[in-house]
Amino acid sequence: MDYSKFISATAAKKKPSGISEMRKFLVNSSPSLVWLASGMPNPDRFPFKDVKVELDDGATLHITEDPLKAALQYGPSPGYLPLVSQLKTMVERDHAPPRWSECDLVVTVGAQHGVCSALHVLLNPGDYVVLPEPCYSDVLCMLSGMDLQYLAIENDEEGMCPDHLRATLNRAITSGQGGVPKAMYVVPSACNPTGTTMSHKRRSQIYAIAHEFDIIVLEDDAYYHLQYDDEDNLPPSFLSLDVDGRVLRFDSFSKIISAGLRVAYVTGPKPLTDAILTQMHSSIICGPMLSQVLVSELLKEWGEEGLKRHTAKLRKFYRSQRDAMVLAASTHLTGLCEWAIPKGGIFLWLKVIGVKDTTDMLMERGVTHNILLIPGREFSVDSSKPNQYMRAAFSCVTPEQMMRGMENLAGLIRKEIDLQNNQD
Ligand SMILES: Cc1ncc(COP(=O)(O)O)c(C=O)c1O
Repeated sequence: MDYSKFISATAAKKKPSGISEMRKFLVNSSPSLVWLASGMPNPDRFPFKDVKVELDDGATLHITEDPLKAALQYGPSPGYLPLVSQLKTMVERDHAPPRWSECDLVVTVGAQHGVCSALHVLLNPGDYVVLPEPCYSDVLCMLSGMDLQYLAIENDEEGMCPDHLRATLNRAITSGQGGVPKAMYVVPSACNPTGTTMSHKRRSQIYAIAHEFDIIVLEDDAYYHLQYDDEDNLPPSFLSLDVDGRVLRFDSFSKIISAGLRVAYVTGPKPLTDAILTQMHSSIICGPMLSQVLVSELLKEWGEEGLKRHTAKLRKFYRSQRDAMVLAASTHLTGLCEWAIPKGGIFLWLKVIGVKDTTDMLMERGVTHNILLIPGREFSVDSSKPNQYMRAAFSCVTPEQMMRGMENLAGLIRKEIDLQNNQD
């Protein structure tokens, strides 16, 4: 594929860092080379001696000597090299990308940073971008101010609808405004906010359309490990289907190891990951190395089986949280709201039947009823339209709190319906 047409004008003009280019002279360098090139602080002057982290299974990660030196110093922009190599092994094992030899992987500061960098690397003002409706709200924040044109695609119980996608693309192209989108953003598994997961068939249909219209797919799979179905029967990722080399896949440790460590990674065609790297180097130099060393040591300690055991436990926990939330909703919201049972993730997406828009109800009157959820408008590509939806997160509340919360919510909705009826 010719990637140059996908790279934004600013990314194409971005100058790579001279200092990081010089690092290549360090590879297999002569021991007598005197390296006066980089501006690293002297690691012997750092106040840390070693780092010990106790795990909940009783094991201890002890970071000393070489990994500690790397953890405290500036590191390579693509990430701590042992971690990069572990992640590549994982991606190859889990996704077997058809064009693996043409792919590369870059560690990012959360998937958020990866997606945001990719959007800036790809899109010029005026470009079209394809988004699911509803869409992860922070992506809408990232896109705001970039002067883009949005093609919002309806979702059904399996995510983005292929028929609507095709019709929207055809309309954009024939409108004569040059509307050929460069990029499409998807959250294929346990989507935020809807909780829907695309089936294998749906993913293949969407990928085929991306191929037909020559669009880069940004696959944000932040909830990949929180799909409640049998881990050995997960639908293939877009990266697994990517015979063209048009998928940038974003993985994250936020939901499975720690959100505060800010360790995630983007995988995809090297020309695109290289452009992200250049963008990253100029903005952050490298991600937090201590976090990356910690994740690397943890993955080493656990091995493939340990990670599997850990994610299986997580899925069991979140599935029981989901069940408790659905029970609370059934108990108190039946007749007031509609919802689909999420197949993964941490959200229940509720449609309020008798309320035209949930924004004022939640933002102005929710707190006085002791309940807070995010109004649907936050996730709407066109936030000027009334929106009957809202998102409830069930990750951090107890079943008892869920029951109380849904009861409070029911009271709030009933009052809102009365208020609306009095205004009409
Ligand atoms: C769909 C989606 N993508 C990305 C993120 C951010 O992930 P990270 O913490 O890795 O930046 C979130 C966080 O909630 C999310 O829901």
